[in-house]
Amino acid sequence: MSFDPYLARRDFPILERTNRGQPLVYLDTAASAQKPRAVIDAISDVYERHYANIHRGVYELSEEATRIHDGARETVRAFLGAADVREIVFTRNATESINLVAATFGRANVGPGDEIVISGLEHHANIVPWQMLCQEKEARLRVVPVTDAGEVDLEAFEKLLGDRTRLVAISHVSNALGTIVPIREVTAAAHERGIPVLLDGAQAVPRFAVDVGELGCDFYVFSGHKLYGPSGMGVLYGRAELLEAMPPYQTGGDMIESVSFEKTTFQPPPQRFEAGTPDIAGAAGLAAAIDYLNGLGLDAIEQHELELTRYGTELLQQIPELRMIGTAADKTGVLSFVVEGVHPHDLGTILDTQGVAIRAGHHCAQPLMERFDVPATARASLGLYNVREDLDKLAAAIRHAIELFR
Ligand code: ALA
Repeated sequence: MSFDPYLARRDFPILERTNRGQPLVYLDTAASAQKPRAVIDAISDVYERHYANIHRGVYELSEEATRIHDGARETVRAFLGAADVREIVFTRNATESINLVAATFGRANVGPGDEIVISGLEHHANIVPWQMLCQEKEARLRVVPVTDAGEVDLEAFEKLLGDRTRLVAISHVSNALGTIVPIREVTAAAHERGIPVLLDGAQAVPRFAVDVGELGCDFYVFSGHKLYGPSGMGVLYGRAELLEAMPPYQTGGDMIESVSFEKTTFQPPPQRFEAGTPDIAGAAGLAAAIDYLNGLGLDAIEQHELELTRYGTELLQQIPELRMIGTAADKTGVLSFVVEGVHPHDLGTILDTQGVAIRAGHHCAQPLMERFDVPATARASLGLYNVREDLDKLAAAIRHAIELFR
């Protein structure tokens, strides 16, 4: 059966509610996706019927909870096409996954005079951890420029790679512009020089199928809440030999092998990186989100969002006062723009009165805003449950705001 977004909408209870008394038009999925009933039920089911701490009890409930948690890790492994469950580390979100790599792999491998390459498109989560590491290690952060269309300048990228480059850390899809970065070219160029690559996939995994083996990346991070799963649940994929060589991140229970006051030895990955009681129900929710997306078909979701991105772009470009920010040939799911005479925050507030929820601001990408010489943009971002009518309402609400400010 082919994907029908009108049918899929029925799976999301929140879409039945209103926003400021108007039918809800949710266009902020890049900030966080809404949750299907299957995810909400999976989380409740753990708390209602299977809840106990994992890896610690010999009783039935604890065994069930452990099985659910372990099963979720296998679901994530298959989802990412990773070779082994030991390559899947559960974290709180993509941000924590990046911080984990910076604090462990980064501290162990980056020294004075070394370089880390990021792009001008990055979310603060993929800038600040590297910036702090570089400050600590007297290393240098190199930034690949972004073109006027909002694409990563690949020629400039290759020129930045050198003997001192210890890591490339780059977005798969830009949260602020929707640009799809040509990752195969990026990883090929980096690997030719023996440089590992970390991909921030927070905006990619909800929009199309990702296979880490095929991409050839060394680390891949994403957040559960952007994948229609629960917040507080994230993933770090790391190639087995890299994770094996990394020291612990946080320390405490469940990540040790043995502890004495003289010496502690640690579990192998992934447990080494998962100190303390994890989000047990969150893992079940994340697995349910993945099952749900697999049931709909990620390829169909990809086509749907590409079609809506094209439709929305054409619609918004008909508004003379509106300028799109980010016009990459290859983009998906995000429409970022500024409207002459209406500040993005005012626009967001007026749209809200019409039931239309968008994000206005710098989208945690201040250097990118600077690149385009704007303090902020208005951003409508799409999810699998959006339909053309949502974009028609967006365009009408923008025209209404322009009238108010005339
Ligand atoms: N990173 C999220 C966004 O793009 C919060 O809105």
